[in-house]
Amino acid sequence: MSIGILTSGGDAPGMNAAVRAAFRTLKMREPECELLFFRDGFRGLARRLDSSSDRSVDRRAVRDIIHRGGTFIGTGRVPELVLPPEDAPNFADRLAARDDFLKVAAINLYQMRVDNLIVIGGDGSFRGARLIGDAFRAHFPRRPFRVIGIPGTIDNDLHGTDYSICYDTALNNVVDAIRKLRDTIESHRRAIILEVMGNTSGWLALQSAIAGGAAVVAIPEVEETWEHEQIVRRLVAGVRRDYRYFIIVVAEGVLRRAGADWCESLRRKIEGDRAIEAHLGHPMEVRINSVGHVARGGSPTALDNTLAGLLGSGAADVVQLGGLGGEPKVDGDVMIGCRGPHVIVTPLDEVIARSPRLVTRDSELYQLSLKLMLSAEQPF
Ligand code: F6P
Repeated sequence: MSIGILTSGGDAPGMNAAVRAAFRTLKMREPECELLFFRDGFRGLARRLDSSSDRSVDRRAVRDIIHRGGTFIGTGRVPELVLPPEDAPNFADRLAARDDFLKVAAINLYQMRVDNLIVIGGDGSFRGARLIGDAFRAHFPRRPFRVIGIPGTIDNDLHGTDYSICYDTALNNVVDAIRKLRDTIESHRRAIILEVMGNTSGWLALQSAIAGGAAVVAIPEVEETWEHEQIVRRLVAGVRRDYRYFIIVVAEGVLRRAGADWCESLRRKIEGDRAIEAHLGHPMEVRINSVGHVARGGSPTALDNTLAGLLGSGAADVVQLGGLGGEPKVDGDVMIGCRGPHVIVTPLDEVIARSPRLVTRDSELYQLSLKLMLSAEQPF
């Protein structure tokens, strides 16, 4: 039998180290085991196999990749795998396209004798992986097959793990951007509104705003953080205390919920605010920037590569030992995650049902932001 590995969804620095760790652990324990890399995410499962998979990869395949960002086996999103809304005009066609995709993927996996598929990605990828697992088991009930997920996303929004691979790299990239922007806005005494990715969750925006020393952060989970009047009141309190520039970090999830013109309309409010103008002697200039995909570019941090090593190796343990080394066996599709310094295993169904894991008001990071950031009632 063979073990398949693919990376899916948004690329994430550290994915290469996870593939390498799974490969090396598997081969160390069982040098003859057969490994396949599927290229470009789930697309690689449903194409002609000779072009989309690397049959019987050997040790050279994972050399010189650990320091590189992105994913050397490619990734992708597969819209066909997403369940269309029931009122979509082409609902039946889309459902049929999804079934076709799943059938081809299941047949390919069967023909390549894959019994374990390691999928590195986020919650969308795990939903897709579960569908593929279910399709395989429906078509070939007598063949064993399981999916082992490894969390790899800058959004850090998966149940079943404290951190996902790439979050630390993205955090450092965003803090680096904040530091660079601080130089220019301090020189000009401006305010900057900085958009940060994160899908529906505010983790990346929140933590980078804290670590970068931002004055304000707006996250999708806490509506009052997006209110323009409230933000302007805080800036007024700031200029009264001699703040001469402001960093305002906004999570992309806010823009999705509050509207794409959120940044522009906040800019107009700040530039037009009379109290700020009265204190400065002129209106405050505002610039809008976005970190964009730069957040997930570049070499992985040491922390991400270490996490990738632990999770990739944990996935190999589940494949070969049935569970993490020295721990009881676990059945079914699972995800490998971390709880503190420990590697843990969670059923994939549970991960899917409880993701995305969002910021809560009582989370330590959100409470910390209230203590460290600019407040409208700032007493000092
Ligand atoms: O899930 C990772 C992520 O970077 C999100 O933060 C963002 O919403 C999305 O992917 C961007 O997707 P794409 O790379 O397809 O533009």
